[in-house]
Amino acid sequence: MQVMGFVENDVAITLLAALAGFLALWVLLTKWQQGRAGGAGGGAAAAAAAGVVDGTRLKSTKMPPGSLGWPIIGETFSFLSDVKNHPQGLYGFLAKRYARYGPVWRTNIIGMTGVFFHGPQAFKTVMLGEHTLFTYKQFKSTGRILGENSMFFADEELHRKMRKQFGEPLSMDGLRRNFTKFQETAINNLSKWEGRTVCVIDEAADYALDNIVYMMTSWKPGDPDFECIKANFMYLMDGIASIPFMWLRGRYYRAIKAHECMCKTLLQVVERRRSGQEKHDDFIQHLVDCETLQNEAEKQSDLQLLDNLVLMMFAGHETSSITIMWLLKYLEDNPLVQETLREEHEEILRKKVNPDALLTWEEASSMPYTLKVLSETLRLSSFMQWLPREANNDIDINGFRVKKGWKVFMDLRAGHHDPALFKDPLKFQPSRFEEPVKPFSFVAFGAGPRLCLGMNLAKLEISLFVHFLVTKYRWESVDKDFSLAPYVFLKLRNGYQIHVTPIIR
Ligand code: HEM
Repeated sequence: MQVMGFVENDVAITLLAALAGFLALWVLLTKWQQGRAGGAGGGAAAAAAAGVVDGTRLKSTKMPPGSLGWPIIGETFSFLSDVKNHPQGLYGFLAKRYARYGPVWRTNIIGMTGVFFHGPQAFKTVMLGEHTLFTYKQFKSTGRILGENSMFFADEELHRKMRKQFGEPLSMDGLRRNFTKFQETAINNLSKWEGRTVCVIDEAADYALDNIVYMMTSWKPGDPDFECIKANFMYLMDGIASIPFMWLRGRYYRAIKAHECMCKTLLQVVERRRSGQEKHDDFIQHLVDCETLQNEAEKQSDLQLLDNLVLMMFAGHETSSITIMWLLKYLEDNPLVQETLREEHEEILRKKVNPDALLTWEEASSMPYTLKVLSETLRLSSFMQWLPREANNDIDINGFRVKKGWKVFMDLRAGHHDPALFKDPLKFQPSRFEEPVKPFSFVAFGAGPRLCLGMNLAKLEISLFVHFLVTKYRWESVDKDFSLAPYVFLKLRNGYQIHVTPIIR
């Protein structure tokens, strides 16, 4: 997931605006240092599979409409102004351009030409063309914070190898081994909500982090190592959305240092597991146990292992917590859906011999309405508004020419709100997922080689959370300001403040 270095609070936005020109120079300098990605061309098989033409057989000479704005600075100021002032926040910038130019358009932000588009065929082309036609690109500054050795930054072969190794603990079998841990975490976290007014986004962020760290290391909140990882992780997240200047010794610098500290702590665990000094049934243990069966070529280096562990925390933290926030908000706005959902979970309890016992795996696997509510939440909120790539060669997208080196942005939100694909797209209607949806029209978890690796974990942890929430509590928002935060992911400015009361039986 890309968090593009945009900032969250007003002061920082003003500062960023003032520094936009300077940033543009920095981007150019970085590009000059790195050289432009190219030559990954090849990919004839993927191109054929995706039904696209390569650089030598381009059909279109039409450039996408749009304005590239001022030299270097491009449309950065309009973009930042919309982030701060438009009621739709960041998306306001896009909405205006769709109205002006139609479904495909280009812009230039801090020195980068980017093309925005949507539609199942285009999503398929770009998502399946990963590594060959397109490349997932992060800013170098993001890499310095997250670690440049993770699968985010890996080439095709290494990426496949890393996904295989990290995929097992996140598979259904892997999740099943941690099933009790997830339930414990959900019950413990929710018990802190009882009778209180809480900020859902903050509490859900704790829940998501507790889950992933517990699953990875067997550490629980309160353990010194857990608290150390958590404190550093907060610095890391804060730095992701900061201006990337080391010499300011500010948020960016602290985030890089926090990443180093996290890796140090995690390496100690890995080493204790390798030496047999400590053994647990968890994610790290699985990776270490696998090492003993691997030849040297298959093994990941320590740097790769650690950066991938940090990546898992990063990728699974805000995504799940923002989803929980929107899900609760939509349930409050749609009481009939909330009651249907509650009924699904009450029915599970009624069938249990001991209703106070934890759920069985089978019970947790039979929550069909909950999964529809989750899909509808992801579709309607589309909080990850777009997925970024870079074109490896000149290529056609939706009938327009995209040049090698341009950024392309798959606009998930526009795709998920397309009335041709989803009837009454702005209505919250989980029942729409009773019918199969057209391929590549619902892509909240991505698709192709970069399909979300934590998709099953997200579905499970959110379903469990929902189960314990709706069977034990009711909630009501206390702050009715539902304006959006100026942030790259769509979320409520106030994080959704609710008062929670227990259900008396
Ligand atoms: C509802 C919650 C979540 C949503 C909506 C979500 C969405 C996505 C999407 C759209 C992508 C593809 C990005 C792209 O193609 O550019 C992705 C990738 C990824 N996600 Fe998730 N995600 C969620 C939860 C999680 C969790 C809990 C984890 C924890 C392990 C996770 C780990 C990852 C990883 C590691 C990748 C990168 C895969 C790769 O580069 O090969 N995600 N996610």
